[in-house]
Amino acid sequence: MSLKSLSLTDNQQTEEDKKLQQQVKSSGAIPKHIAVIMDGNGRWAQKKGNIRLFGHKAGVESVRDITESCAQLGVEYLTLYAFSTENWNRPSAEINGLMRLLVQTLRNEAERLNKNDIKLVTIGQTERLPGKCQQMLEEVIELTADNKRMQLCLALSYSGRWDIKEAVKNIAKEVEKGNITPDQIDDDLIGSFLSTASVPDPDLIIRTSGEFRISNFLLWQLAYSELYITETYWPDFRRDELYQAIFSFQKRDRRYGKVKNGHNKSMSASVINQIRS
Ligand code: FPP
Repeated sequence: MSLKSLSLTDNQQTEEDKKLQQQVKSSGAIPKHIAVIMDGNGRWAQKKGNIRLFGHKAGVESVRDITESCAQLGVEYLTLYAFSTENWNRPSAEINGLMRLLVQTLRNEAERLNKNDIKLVTIGQTERLPGKCQQMLEEVIELTADNKRMQLCLALSYSGRWDIKEAVKNIAKEVEKGNITPDQIDDDLIGSFLSTASVPDPDLIIRTSGEFRISNFLLWQLAYSELYITETYWPDFRRDELYQAIFSFQKRDRRYGKVKNGHNKSMSASVINQIRS
């Protein structure tokens, strides 16, 4: 059976899928935080001779499948780039369609999110969204507020530069009030002023549709995230490819700018020997 066609609750999960997830879990560390640039909905729809909104609707199926499979795997945080600051420049028919789709999706998925013990949060200028969207978001955020299994964050009217700009403004205000000195501004302090303050930086960023760009997503937070870029358009990106992305992540050597473990010692020993000789 093709996994692509399935969107499952835990109870309906196939034996085949359970085995696959077991393999993913036993082959290495599961990323604590996965962030996704869901791209290619428009091209997916146009290739099928349909309007772009058709692609966004199909994309919701992928959102559900990836959200649930991440929760099943033990991912703690999943951040989805659902609407960027720049997306406000799209034709109003597409923006309105996306906003309606957001309301519909929240209404349809709220109970299921709650049953799956998933907490919904948002980042971005949500005050720019239509009132109906804000109201539905508030309702689902409140409904799922105590859930513990995974945090699903929707980046809505979000951009990395906006996030950094807001942090800089707020830090400047604290400096002005005398609450912090410029010398106290370090990475941790800046991180604590960003919209993702309580969340660890993403371990893995997935971008669909084959574009090699970050598109103003979590600019500060993804300094050391591993990238997985796939040609697959978002509406075709389902759990089977998520597993591939995680397998790929597990093979990465995350050095954070340092040299390999143990290499530091041998390097310094050889440098000392060179100097002595
Ligand atoms: C990018 O594809 C996708 C978006 C701008 C919107 C993403 C929205 C969804 C997946 C559905 C709604 C989401 C939720 C959370 C309810 P694109 O339109 O830029 O595709 P293109 O690059 O092919 O034009």
